[in-house]
Amino acid sequence: MKYISKPVKRVDAKEKVTGKALYIDDIKLPFMLYGAMVRASHPHAKIVSINTERALRKKGVVAVITAEDIPGEKNVGNVKKDQPVFAYDKVRYMGDGIALVVAESMEIAREAAKLVDVKYEVLEEVFDPEEAMSEKAPKIHEDGNIIVYHKVRRGDTDKGFKEADIVIERAYKTQFVEHSYLEPEGVIAEITENGTVKIMGCIQNAFTTEKDIARVMNIDISKVQIIQTIMGGSFGGKDDVMTVMAARAAVAALVTGRPVKIVNTREESMLESYKRHPYRMYYRLGLKKDGSISALEAKIIADGGAYASTTPFVTWRSNVQAAGPYRVENVKVDTYGVYTNNVYTGAMRGFGSPQVNFAIESLMDEAANELSMDPLEFKIKNGLRDGDITATGQKLTHKVSLIETLKKATEASNWKEKRILLKKENEKSERYLRGIGLASSLRGVSLGAEGADAAGVEIKVELDGSVVVEMGLTDMGQGIKTVIAQIVADEFGIPLEKVFILPYDTSRVPDSGPTVASRATTIGGGAAKEATRRIIETLKDAVRETMGVKEVEFKDGYFLSPRGKMSFKEAIKAAFSQGKPLNAVGWYKAPPIVWNEEEGKGEPYFTYVYATQVAEVEVDTFTGKVKVLRVVAAHEVGRAINPQMAKGQIYGGVAMALGYALLEEFEIQKGMPKTLNFDNYLLPTAPDMPEVEAILVENPDPLTYYGAKSLGEPTNELLAPAIANAIFHATGKRLRELPMNLEEVYLGRKLERG
Ligand code: MOS
Repeated sequence: MKYISKPVKRVDAKEKVTGKALYIDDIKLPFMLYGAMVRASHPHAKIVSINTERALRKKGVVAVITAEDIPGEKNVGNVKKDQPVFAYDKVRYMGDGIALVVAESMEIAREAAKLVDVKYEVLEEVFDPEEAMSEKAPKIHEDGNIIVYHKVRRGDTDKGFKEADIVIERAYKTQFVEHSYLEPEGVIAEITENGTVKIMGCIQNAFTTEKDIARVMNIDISKVQIIQTIMGGSFGGKDDVMTVMAARAAVAALVTGRPVKIVNTREESMLESYKRHPYRMYYRLGLKKDGSISALEAKIIADGGAYASTTPFVTWRSNVQAAGPYRVENVKVDTYGVYTNNVYTGAMRGFGSPQVNFAIESLMDEAANELSMDPLEFKIKNGLRDGDITATGQKLTHKVSLIETLKKATEASNWKEKRILLKKENEKSERYLRGIGLASSLRGVSLGAEGADAAGVEIKVELDGSVVVEMGLTDMGQGIKTVIAQIVADEFGIPLEKVFILPYDTSRVPDSGPTVASRATTIGGGAAKEATRRIIETLKDAVRETMGVKEVEFKDGYFLSPRGKMSFKEAIKAAFSQGKPLNAVGWYKAPPIVWNEEEGKGEPYFTYVYATQVAEVEVDTFTGKVKVLRVVAAHEVGRAINPQMAKGQIYGGVAMALGYALLEEFEIQKGMPKTLNFDNYLLPTAPDMPEVEAILVENPDPLTYYGAKSLGEPTNELLAPAIANAIFHATGKRLRELPMNLEEVYLGRKLERG
């Protein structure tokens, strides 16, 4: 292999660094109109009337679009169809959109949006997810406030707790987090001359959007075309929020007969877009004196906000991974997703794991402390190994790399010496205390029981030996275009420059599901390899026919036969002249999984990845500031198709998790966001970054092509507990609530913003 496992340069690097790449806001169509939203004035209220007269009188305003203009279904949603394109009966959070003012310029549209007069009847609100679960709470949707309930059951926890020598009970809490993609949401919709609805935009999961657009517009899916423009980041964030936006633009394009663009300002983006779920997690753990775990119980409550979004799936991942990478024979987990009048919550890198990992990995550190064991020793004793059975009852048949990641990360961070040395040095220090902490995880690869897990890639070979590729999975910056190009170039034995990847367009490739769950390399890579295999088979036939031979072998870019060899290009020409097809669709379906939702048991993912991160911190005890000095991150990836980009995922994931751990919180009080731009929303920047040592552990998985597994999300789910454990090691203070900002570290509680 010339490109696979090599640090190949990104295929889309040049267009981005030269500024040639067109993002949605760079695109302008002839006769295009601009849309601006009228938004809710209350977090929970009945809409009594909408008066658009004053707005319509403003010069330059073309139309004001409301739910009444929708030709089809009024609601959309990834799992439940509970989210209105335009709020019609009531509003459920401050980001709800009621009407779209469409005008000749964005400025006019925004000004006129202020002139739409909406009358409300305010309803009783609920902002606390645990209060929302009570029978007495106001109902946000007709069928009650519980969005979803999942469970895990293994063994007998009553028996397990009876056998325990020590039982610890702990509660952990996490916050709302904004994705903070640099590019805010944007779409352009137009109705083409043949009646198709064509949408361009920074849409992460265009096939999901496509299906909802067909329902809203009351047309066939075949009449919807979604073209993904270059994405300025997503992190799971440009999913259903984009569907709602695309649907609004499509309805406006239908009503006005002109293309309509909607682009959010940063403030609108923060107000409207869904966030990472805040969790409340109540754990109970039974321990034996020998250091083993006898029982684990957890009750997990996720604040889903106003709409279900992907809450049913996010909480499902939390649920099946709630016991972490440990051998526990008696497990009982109950997980709830709940509606409130807060901003809705959905997919965000990690997808339900950063929250439960903060809890379980803090808890395991607390357990080790209770037993007077070193956390590393405790994890090596209880960590999953080859052939072990997980909390959901799954026997692990692949190579279980947890212990390997623990060993590599702790060796590279000098764990054993530092645990003693730092404590000693702290005795001499008045103000600054240092500590070192670790966290580990297992993570299910790809979608698991969330849905059909397959994808397609189409390849067309041209007569000059160059190759065009179309794929059903998207590049939002993570680099899948480069990975697919590496695979195609290597399988064909051609230079990387000969592979050209077309923009992503739902009308040209088979529905490959969403580009989520760190599945693109594993599933899309499989599809690309399969497509190349099909083409090579055709070319072999062409060589057989030309040479009059039976045996043909394809090696290093040449077809070898007993009567001589033919190059890749010659074989293509031969195939063409023989009337053979020069294109193929490769389809890859993930190995099967089993999940019994009623019993809370099964094999939720076909394989897992494992990781360990170690953080070394310095706590300023005068101010509460935590400085992360060094992070060692050892991630098992199966096989790294592009090791440089894989390390990039680790650096980025660590940066993002550092924000989650120490700085970031989308503050919201009584449904009102307190932070609508980055002046108030603290993101980590370069000076906050520690030295990061990224270690790739490669144990190729026999069930996947090239043995490749997942990496994007695992990198982002471990640092918060590693830092919490390091703070405990430094100060003896246990922090159980994120973010561990100055107030939390110094006072042990959060201050409220006025
Ligand atoms: Mo994701 S958070 O699986 O887009």
